[in-house]
Amino acid sequence: MWVIMKKLIITLAAAVLLSACSVDIPFINEKPLEKAEKNPQLAERNEQTKENYASNAKGEEESSLALEAAYFNAIKEVNGIKEIVNATNTLALVNKEFALPGSYIPDDLVRPKVPFSFGNQDIEKSYLRKEAGSALEKMFSAAKESNIHLFAVSGYRSYARQESILNNEIGKVGEEEALQAVAFPGKSEHQTGLAMDISSESVQYLLVEEFEDTDEGKWLKENAHRFGFILRYPKDKEKITGYQFEPWHFRYVGEKNAQIMYKNGWTLEEFFQEVRKL
Ligand code: DAL
Ligand code: ZN
Repeated sequence: MWVIMKKLIITLAAAVLLSACSVDIPFINEKPLEKAEKNPQLAERNEQTKENYASNAKGEEESSLALEAAYFNAIKEVNGIKEIVNATNTLALVNKEFALPGSYIPDDLVRPKVPFSFGNQDIEKSYLRKEAGSALEKMFSAAKESNIHLFAVSGYRSYARQESILNNEIGKVGEEEALQAVAFPGKSEHQTGLAMDISSESVQYLLVEEFEDTDEGKWLKENAHRFGFILRYPKDKEKITGYQFEPWHFRYVGEKNAQIMYKNGWTLEEFFQEVRKL
């Protein structure tokens, strides 16, 4: 009896340890094949299923992508605006359709230890949410090891600061053009504390399209997903994202999700069209 109890305790402890090791967003993208050891009919069907996976791997994977409901926007309509209720969700879809409440300020903002284009000034835009901040640190260190020197330019932005940036831009280029580049207050990903604009010395730390052709811009485009970031406003996806190409704007979504989006060439909007809600 004691031996059985001991085995049970060890098994339980191992299960707890294993689950504690994984803190990633629970993503379900695999359908386990049915047990077929002693059933030739099932074995044959499983072989067929494997072949289908092989011949149609992309389609099968896409159709089996699923995420818990908590990772989808929960929305309430406020004065005709679709407001995100679960604003702390790391996968919050903030865009021209869905807005954060004006009062939302993330409660876990930290100042990542990375080089900033404005030096050591401790200012609002140098902050990110904790999880995104530590992913950014890892990404900047890995880049440096490859002789790529990145500079953080603009991270967290309050609703009020977004309002003044937009008004300033409207003053310079007019409303129509301004809105292709700058979000309405409440509708900027920067308010989530999960987005960082990144630049390099070679383009004078500016947020310009030429960043795409720099070593730093190219490195980010090909590697950001390994650290949980996506290039949020890609070229040729302007109609989907609602914004012009921004080779400098990276959004944290977690490693697994970023890799799926990168591999499939999906924007966050497309990702949510493909993924099933559990
Ligand atoms: N430039 C992006 C769209 C923003 O203003 O949030
Ligand atoms: Zn940005």
